[in-house]
Amino acid sequence: MKKEYITSSSAQTKKLGQKLAKDILKKKPEKTAFVIGLEGELGSGKTTFVQGFAKALGIKEKVLSPTFVIIKRFQFNNLTIKQFNNFYHLDCYRIKKPRELLDLGFKEIISNPRNIVAVEWADKIKKIMPEDVLWINFEFIDEKKRKISFICDIIEK
Ligand SMILES: Nc1ncnc2c1ncn2[C@@H]1O[C@H](COP(=O)(O)OP(=O)(O)OP(=O)(O)O)[C@@H](O)[C@H]1O
Ligand SMILES: [Mg+2]
Repeated sequence: MKKEYITSSSAQTKKLGQKLAKDILKKKPEKTAFVIGLEGELGSGKTTFVQGFAKALGIKEKVLSPTFVIIKRFQFNNLTIKQFNNFYHLDCYRIKKPRELLDLGFKEIISNPRNIVAVEWADKIKKIMPEDVLWINFEFIDEKKRKISFICDIIEK
């Protein structure tokens, strides 16, 4: 994937999320979870991106902002996905201390190679994020435009 994209609609942002998911599914298995850190202001498109991402993983449930639950787990019932069992969607907006997330089993979630983990507001818990993270930065350009930057080259294409 390229490093930077400008999307002009939420549909385009979802498409980009789908593309990333497809690329991840093509990767060789790793020793730990595949972790994505999403950062960017309110309304910059993080959840929208995750909706496209989840759709490409065959998740039929509606992906909402998990702000109030903090951690939402989706199990794959898609038999074509062999290397992963779960998709975790986290939202750290309300997290005050990384400890709160550790108490919810964050370390176990990110160490299981059968998990894909997407963390909104991951910059708030940078201290406990693993080293190998695909960081994605979302910037509001105008009402319809967002700049989406991939900060890491785990996915090169
Ligand atoms: N190009 C675009 N990409 C993504 N969303 C867009 C775009 N243009 C307009 N939007 C709108 O912007 C909003 C993005 O909201 P979204 O919940 O995805 O943001 P968020 O970054 O997850 O915010 P929060 O920090 O509150 O969780 C949606 O209402 C969406 O329809
Ligand atoms: Mg959100």
